[in-house]
Amino acid sequence: MSRSEPHSLRMIELGVNIDHVATLREARKGLNPDVIAAAKVCEAAGAQQITVHLRADRRHIQDHDVEELHQVLQARLNLEMGVTPEIIDIAHRLKPHTVCLVPENRQEVTTEGGLDVAGQRTALFDVTAGMHAHGIHVSMFIDPDPHQVEASAAVGADYVEFHTGAYANAKGQAALAHELDRLHQCALLVGETPMRCNAGHGLTVRNLWPVALLPGLNEVNIGHDIIARAIFIGLDRAVKEIQDVLFEAAKFRAGA
Ligand code: PXP
Repeated sequence: MSRSEPHSLRMIELGVNIDHVATLREARKGLNPDVIAAAKVCEAAGAQQITVHLRADRRHIQDHDVEELHQVLQARLNLEMGVTPEIIDIAHRLKPHTVCLVPENRQEVTTEGGLDVAGQRTALFDVTAGMHAHGIHVSMFIDPDPHQVEASAAVGADYVEFHTGAYANAKGQAALAHELDRLHQCALLVGETPMRCNAGHGLTVRNLWPVALLPGLNEVNIGHDIIARAIFIGLDRAVKEIQDVLFEAAKFRAGA
């Protein structure tokens, strides 16, 4: 715990997704901005985790980024990955703290929906067991759907990360309330399993608060908003303002 809060206060951890720093670098195929330096700023600002997505098309994060991050970071490394033999081998070799299994489609701008764990139980049971055998925790990036929560527990996942894109894109109060209710119900379901509950996608300093109050929420992974705000206020402040929201939410949840 980096803040002087009571020890009973359970903080919601922050993973900063730095793919967008690599996107900017790859726009010129050069060295700037430095992805490793950006990760270190996030870490120094208190992020407990750095998240990167090593995509099959290597459009942003490159293999050498993952290797170097793994060597230099004190924070946990969370490798988002499509479930392909190539990336599974890389994960087994590098042994990040966590892998977050995501659906991956070459045409998409970003991860569009949750992984269908229920539709591929046997394969994902084997992938999860293989990661565990290499000492790697496994998170399933799923839509807030009770079937997917149940299937994630059944295949042995350690975490689910709820895809919050539908919440982030909801238009109007009714749609927003509906999406929050789905997240809330599924967070309660996760609480009945050995898994822990994370959330990510489309979260911003403005829409984070209701998500941070989800029951038992363990961690959020945020990329685009932090990197976008960093242009105006700096990366350090962009990370810290998210952490302020998480800190206030942890206090609120604890009734402090
Ligand atoms: N979590 C997962 C599993 C993701 O795929 C992404 C997007 O790469 C994020 C979190 C972060 O989403 P955003 O960049 O919208 O904050």
